[in-house]
Amino acid sequence: MYKAPSLSTKFQILSLLFLLSNPPKTTSSHTPPHLTPNVNPLHQNESYILPPQAPPPLPSLIPSDFIDIKVYLAYQVIQQFKSNITSDPLGITQTWVGPDVCTTYKGFYCANPPYNTSATTLAAIDFNGYGLGAPSITDFLAQLPDLAFFHANSNKFRGTISASAVSNLSFLYELDVSNNLMSGPFPAAVLSISNLNFLDLRFNSFSGSIPPQLFTLKLEELFINDNDFTQPLPVNLWKSPVNYITLANNRFVGGIPCGVGSAAETLVEVLLLNNELTGCLPYEVGLLGIATVFDAGNNRLTGPIPESMGCMGRVEQLNLAGNHLYGHVPESVCRIGSLVNLSLSDNYFTSVGPTCMQLIEKGVMDDRKNCIRGRPMQRSPAECIEFFLKKKYHCPLSFYYYYYSPCHHSHYSRSHARARPPPPPPSPSYSALNRHRL
Ligand SMILES: *[C@@H]1O[C@H](CO)[C@@H](O)[C@H](O)[C@H]1NC(C)=O
Ligand SMILES: *[C@@H]1O[C@H](CO)[C@@H](O)[C@H](O)[C@H]1NC(C)=O
Ligand SMILES: *[C@@H]1O[C@H](CO)[C@@H](O)[C@H](O)[C@H]1NC(C)=O
Ligand SMILES: *[C@@H]1O[C@H](CO)[C@@H](O)[C@H](O)[C@H]1NC(C)=O
Ligand SMILES: *[C@@H]1O[C@H](CO)[C@@H](O)[C@H](O)[C@H]1NC(C)=O
Repeated sequence: MYKAPSLSTKFQILSLLFLLSNPPKTTSSHTPPHLTPNVNPLHQNESYILPPQAPPPLPSLIPSDFIDIKVYLAYQVIQQFKSNITSDPLGITQTWVGPDVCTTYKGFYCANPPYNTSATTLAAIDFNGYGLGAPSITDFLAQLPDLAFFHANSNKFRGTISASAVSNLSFLYELDVSNNLMSGPFPAAVLSISNLNFLDLRFNSFSGSIPPQLFTLKLEELFINDNDFTQPLPVNLWKSPVNYITLANNRFVGGIPCGVGSAAETLVEVLLLNNELTGCLPYEVGLLGIATVFDAGNNRLTGPIPESMGCMGRVEQLNLAGNHLYGHVPESVCRIGSLVNLSLSDNYFTSVGPTCMQLIEKGVMDDRKNCIRGRPMQRSPAECIEFFLKKKYHCPLSFYYYYYSPCHHSHYSRSHARARPPPPPPSPSYSALNRHRL
């Protein structure tokens, strides 16, 4: 097995060094177009015209020109792929010449494969930000069996990830095809990549439903935001062992699945914002004891905030803005000492207690555009009355919602003396909402 984290670090350092030491080269090596006199026998016109452009003859390379036969095989695949590239605004493929694949080809990295540590093979590809276009990457990936990473953020690859592309990739650990032009149903082939740890499909045009098997993969990070997924979220969502998951900016419908407790030990950040989710916040959401980001903003969630959410003892960013939530904002939530941003604007909350008032005064909590009597910048009374006359939906377990908190995290409580926590480090899932984030 590849030692993933160390390879990952090495890989990042490698790519930095590579970029610093190899600024894009201009191709001065092209021979100028060869001019030949074209004498027209009928008109004796002696002007010169260009013959059809032929590529300069390539020296044909043989296996012994390469550091390893595996690199020679990769070379052949790269050359085929190069001829399929339809767009290359940065001139990346100009570096894809000659036998030194491991040292001079931009985007390619070699390493010793796990099954033979004295061999050298093509182990990683990083095309992030290259803008390369190709109608398909299937035959390319299919023939590079030792790949551990394929990172291709912000390119123009079309098609999908097909079964033949990945069935041979037994070492693939990270797959990032974010911000490309891929489309079609969820690429179910990724479900068969047994070692996959990181999957990033965001900013493409995948549509339809996501398969429940996605949540049985042993992923640490799953980014599928900004596609066209439309169906309900699979009921086993929370069985996934992921630490970071972004489902934002799709059109997922239906409720937030129950069983949140299954993710209690693993889930650190979850982004559900900008979908069409309905129903109530599940009572068990309070079991997300290590979550630092929970964002379900801009959906159609209704009901009160369950008292149990006060048990999310490490949450820093809690965004429920832009829903149809109502009732009293539980004081237990406002007592969470780690909160940096509690966004509840644009709902139908009717009251806040003294702890929440303190948060509002500190600028941590946003209560604008609700129905809170005595607070500035609320909805008009008419809007509020209309909402409460129409409101029909009742959440299950409503007694518990209001009155029962399953935890007593007094040690997390925001004491009066305590200073605001420092701003959190950049959140991986919020940065995934940026198209070009690598
Ligand atoms: C020769 O060919 C060129 C291009 O086809 C044309 O512009 C030019 O007028 C021709 N000259 C004569 C003398 O026919
Ligand atoms: C290049 O495109 C051709 C024609 O579509 C295809 O047969 C071939 O497998 C492709 N090769 C690679 C490496 O992408
Ligand atoms: C390991 O790789 C080296 C270099 O490619 C090769 O010479 C050797 O035969 C390989 N060993 C095995 C067991 O395949
Ligand atoms: C997978 O690898 C096998 C053996 O190396 C090869 O025969 C087969 O063509 C590969 N599959 C694809 C889709 O390229
Ligand atoms: C708090 O979070 C909301 C929702 O994500 C965001 O719009 C707002 O800018 C954040 N406020 C601050 C001060 O970061």
